[in-house]
Amino acid sequence: MTDGVAPRRTAVKVLERIENDGAFANLVLNATLEKSKLDSRDRAFVTEMVYGTTRMRRACDHTLNRFLHDEIEPLARTILRLGVWQIIFGGVPAHAAVSATVEVAPRRFRGLCNAVLRRIAENPVTDWPSEAIELSYPDWLMDRLKLDVGEQDALGMAKTMNEPALAVTRSDGYHQDLSSQMVAELAVDGLKAGDSILDLCAAPGGKATLMASGGVWTVAADVRESRIGLVVENVQRLNIDLSLVVSDGCFPPFKPKSFNRVLVDAPCSGLGVLRRRADARWRVSEEEIERLSSLQEKLLLSALNLVASGGQLIYSVCTVTSTETTEVDERFRAKTGIQSCGLLPEPWRVHGQGGILLPQDLNSEGMAVFRYQVE
Ligand SMILES: C[S@@+](CC[C@H](N)C(=O)[O-])C[C@H]1O[C@@H](n2cnc3c(N)ncnc32)[C@H](O)[C@@H]1O
Repeated sequence: MTDGVAPRRTAVKVLERIENDGAFANLVLNATLEKSKLDSRDRAFVTEMVYGTTRMRRACDHTLNRFLHDEIEPLARTILRLGVWQIIFGGVPAHAAVSATVEVAPRRFRGLCNAVLRRIAENPVTDWPSEAIELSYPDWLMDRLKLDVGEQDALGMAKTMNEPALAVTRSDGYHQDLSSQMVAELAVDGLKAGDSILDLCAAPGGKATLMASGGVWTVAADVRESRIGLVVENVQRLNIDLSLVVSDGCFPPFKPKSFNRVLVDAPCSGLGVLRRRADARWRVSEEEIERLSSLQEKLLLSALNLVASGGQLIYSVCTVTSTETTEVDERFRAKTGIQSCGLLPEPWRVHGQGGILLPQDLNSEGMAVFRYQVE
């Protein structure tokens, strides 16, 4: 067998599940790797191939379609996409990519795969029809990013989110991106040991565990019981003391004005973390963004009642759409008359009355934050 066939065979199996069955990339990849006999180097290569091919699917298809005249079987397309990713985006030498990838194909289309991949290695695309195709995003998403953060920043964002995610580890061993750590630090900034904070949408507990580790009494709530299970695992592993509640943040089971601070780290479209979720760009929809925007406003309105006088309410999302950031903030302030706490410290960029970090700013995830002063 040619060298490197086993990891490519595994990658094709995982890609078929993602592309044909709509499986979540991280779930099916982890489950497959757990059962496999591959060593750690091959596992890392499978991960890179699966996430890379998934992210760059549209650019791979454009590259391929120049040499395909008829529709081909889904399995042939999956294998060809994997080959194109290696040759064009993955930095794998063409001869190795072609021979090991062709060997994964059933005999009936080995000839086709071999011919097409060789031609692609000799003729890479030089005139991409659009930035959305070249950077491999749906048109609506690229248009929306340009509208919401401006053309240059949208392109910077789109490029950064095509890179593999960085592994950032806190001093206690928890993996958490820098911008999420910065939100947790902002949320407890100025609190003393014994003061309280409620994290209304807390699972899997990244921010809650960081906030609690500083001595602030932290209550972590989430609507999904199974996700509260993830917080339990993290709390036990890190040996951190915090309280856990399963509750719908729109109807929280707490007395009014019970907390010095409330953090609403709301469910969102996740467009700032596409780097970490390779398949998310193909799943998010404009309708979903609208639905989330009204849920975010509802969560903020119910959270406001729980903040004690003199306290603060903090709203954060790992996305950058105006619909889920400035528009939610504007509606919330108009309905409640609440004041924003003012500008956020650097490196946060000014974003309406809050702050935003784009993925390219600190090579982190994209995040937006708004803080309100409760009288
Ligand atoms: C962005 S994640 C939170 C991440 C978390 N704060 C952290 O730092 O690890 C959003 C969470 O909101 C939860 N959620 C969705 N709808 C909710 C609701 N109505 N009430 C409370 N939590 C909700 C989801 O289950 C999800 O765990």
